[in-house]
Amino acid sequence: MAAKILLIALLALASSHALASDPSPLQDFCVADMDSKVRVNGFVCKDPTVVKAEDFFSTGLDKAGDTGKKLGSNVTAVNVNKIVGLNTLGISMVRIDYAPKGLNAPHTHPRATEILTVIEGQLFVGFVTSNSDNGNRLFTKMLKKGDVFVFPEGLIHFQFNPGHTNTVAIGALSSQNPGTITIANAVFGSKPPISDEVLAKAFQIAEMAAKILLISLLAMASSLAMASDPSPLQDFCVADKASKVRVNGFVCKDPTVVKAEDFFSTGLDKAGDTGKKLGSNVTAVNIAEMAAKILLISLLAMASSLAMASDPSPLQDFCVADKASKVLVNGFVCKDPMQVTAEDFFAMGLDKAGNTENKVGSMVTAVNVNKLAGLNTLGISMVRIDYAPRGLNPPHTHPRATEILTVIEGQLLVGFVTSNTDNGNRLFTKMLKKGDVFVFPEGLIHFQFNPGHTKTVAIGALSSQNPGTITIANAVFGSKPPISDDVLAKAFQVDKKTVDWLQAQFWADNNN
Ligand SMILES: *[C@@H]1O[C@H](CO)[C@@H](O)[C@H](O)[C@H]1NC(C)=O
Ligand SMILES: *[C@@H]1O[C@H](CO)[C@@H](O)[C@H](O)[C@H]1NC(C)=O
Repeated sequence: MAAKILLIALLALASSHALASDPSPLQDFCVADMDSKVRVNGFVCKDPTVVKAEDFFSTGLDKAGDTGKKLGSNVTAVNVNKIVGLNTLGISMVRIDYAPKGLNAPHTHPRATEILTVIEGQLFVGFVTSNSDNGNRLFTKMLKKGDVFVFPEGLIHFQFNPGHTNTVAIGALSSQNPGTITIANAVFGSKPPISDEVLAKAFQIAEMAAKILLISLLAMASSLAMASDPSPLQDFCVADKASKVRVNGFVCKDPTVVKAEDFFSTGLDKAGDTGKKLGSNVTAVNIAEMAAKILLISLLAMASSLAMASDPSPLQDFCVADKASKVLVNGFVCKDPMQVTAEDFFAMGLDKAGNTENKVGSMVTAVNVNKLAGLNTLGISMVRIDYAPRGLNPPHTHPRATEILTVIEGQLLVGFVTSNTDNGNRLFTKMLKKGDVFVFPEGLIHFQFNPGHTKTVAIGALSSQNPGTITIANAVFGSKPPISDDVLAKAFQVDKKTVDWLQAQFWADNNN
């Protein structure tokens, strides 16, 4: 058994040719120095001269995890915390044990694609695509011993053992620290809890009402991204300005003292003085004002963004998407650059309010590569979000992007929930007013709610040309075909009648 697992593990590693979000290594290895007090993205490197084979080694994956708990599954992870040599290498491994009828509940890995093979037993697996892929399609497959299945980065997925015997699977993930967000825990078990009103509305448990048209501002944005920053290796790494340690960027603050203020800045509603030569004044949210240096700079009309994209970096000035081409690549193939004109970098209509006459009372108008072909390869896109009074942009994730958002009109209660390993799904919330800016780290579940009696308008930027959106309630309870009520009843610890009722609720996608 152990030999078999090791063999399969090696095969999985060898065949894992993944599109990692993790930054690429800049040397042969950078073994994590767990004793260092210096905090960086990931870990600082041990002196390479004292590195030994043990640093790349771990044992015990032949041992079954205890599946005695209520879900009947147990994930044994071998990530950078167990193999210090994984630091900067963009991969990790898991063994998963499933009792008969055991479930690995619906979850996402904010920083990784997963590839999994069944070693013993049988496994029913599935994942749900994002809202824009024809509306949360569910892909499922019954796996037997030796079968291999891939769960794309950031998408909600699950595994269920429908048999009468134990199942064992080995998986590999394209991050040294992929993170796990168990949907039920993150949504219903955050500390402090997400407000009942938000959850009731998100899951359509209570009735809704909210309409009214909005108006207002903003022109289009032409974005010029330098998408070469490294990708995050943990939920966030808030800049520690007090530290004297010099690295590329900033060292991280102790995560236990990070608070909502660190993702927050104010003052973007103040007009800059346009009296100088160029007759315009770009107000940047600068480093001094905003401690969350995950991303910076969001502009209103003219946006020049410097984002941490998961998207691959561009290899030329631009590569305008050729929508007419039949060739399929990651993104789109490039138009003949000689045919490219300014129109390719232009879109209009973000001054128009989205129609919020739907059950959640909000509308997201996205300007991504589908609307603006010039965004192809540039790792960024923009949204306008309209909220009716009491309107909600329900809990969702962007599998491929961090989001930075500023309030143009009105007021907004915003929040995000960290992954399971960050001290257990901490909820960060903040009340925003006009001009305030807030950051939602890559892949984490977040929401916005307008608690006021007037409409709200926000403009956001996302670090991907096609960030994707997964609305948790829709993806979990409204997939086509539905996820089995056995799986959901167990995941949410409710009876099947409740699940069937939730699945019967269907509402309009608020993404335009
Ligand atoms: C998984 O199994 C290990 C080893 O048996 C055990 O220590 C751990 O508590 C189990 N975890 C869960 C969540 O049941
Ligand atoms: C931009 O506006 C700020 C605030 O009004 C002002 O301090 C600054 O000098 C202006 N910069 C330029 C280049 O005009």
